[in-house]
Amino acid sequence: MFVTRTFQKDINMKNADFLTGITTSGTPHLGNYVGAIRPAVETSKNKELVSYYFLADYHSLIKNHDPGLRRQSTLEIAAAWIALGLDYKNCIFYRQSDIPEIPELTWILTSLSAKGLMNRAHAYKAAVAQNQADEHKDPDKGITMGLFSYPVLMAADILMFNAAKVPVGRDQVQHLEMTRDIAARFNHVYKKLFILPEVVVDEDSAVLSGLDGRKMSKSYNNYIPLFDTEKRLRKMVMKIKTNSLGPDEPKDPETCTLFSIYNAFATREETRAMEKKYREGIAWGTAKQELFEYINAILEGPRKQYEELIKNPGDIEAILQQGAEKARSFSVPFLDKIRKAIGIASLG
Ligand code: TRP
Repeated sequence: MFVTRTFQKDINMKNADFLTGITTSGTPHLGNYVGAIRPAVETSKNKELVSYYFLADYHSLIKNHDPGLRRQSTLEIAAAWIALGLDYKNCIFYRQSDIPEIPELTWILTSLSAKGLMNRAHAYKAAVAQNQADEHKDPDKGITMGLFSYPVLMAADILMFNAAKVPVGRDQVQHLEMTRDIAARFNHVYKKLFILPEVVVDEDSAVLSGLDGRKMSKSYNNYIPLFDTEKRLRKMVMKIKTNSLGPDEPKDPETCTLFSIYNAFATREETRAMEKKYREGIAWGTAKQELFEYINAILEGPRKQYEELIKNPGDIEAILQQGAEKARSFSVPFLDKIRKAIGIASLG
């Protein structure tokens, strides 16, 4: 990593109050909005907090090997966050690969991380279990070092900015435990430089159901994209699976995918009113139309801005560069401290 360390900006040595990453390996969908984007947009506006949001493009290298897809996903995710109101002036919004201090810290942490700890990572274990189920001779078949050391890169993302709180989905909790482990090890072996970050799992907003009723996710291919055309959005909503109860028959909101999506978007009173309509036997066609109209009203304005941004990728790039500059005003001096602590520093 031959990066000149002459970066001179007003040094913002404030640790991150909140930090989270978004892997650039897909198209942003409604589940991402309620689970991650909406709460982050709220936090991004808070003047009292220093919050960091970044596009985890190095993490996406592990998940796919398609350069075009990575670029497109980076563009779409950045555009979506900006269009949905992220206050990128108040927070720090950047691309992981624009911060060369992160891969450098990754190596420093790799040299401290126990291999046995990585052996226990859920994603790695699941890949091994799959190989065993498929009766491959080599249980590590197709597993890269990237997948294996994924938690160390994630630890570097977090520790680089000494983040206090990290909002993530439930599937990421183990990675935060590992981050704390690695940070404590550094503090013990070298110098107490790292805060042990806390995981924040939002129980209310975490999971949205997809078209088939399972969790809305790219891997199930059951998602509704945030920024398709209005016509396509309507078509997707009409595709949501319901049961065969006819119009006028009372319906159970508790077990209904449509209802759970409505609930994630609407206010409490609106949800209660919809619940009443279910009990009174609203027809599926009507319920779908109401859901479509509700979501569309929220997305109409951002959709226009999203389309504008996608047409002007240079504008997005400029925002990300400003973010990288702000982030590096922390990471450059902090990495210097880390280098000193481990005995990698100028001899003169
Ligand atoms: N691994 C996270 C996910 O798949 C994304 C991510 C990468 C992240 N680095 C991070 C999240 C640092 C929080 C903090 O969702």
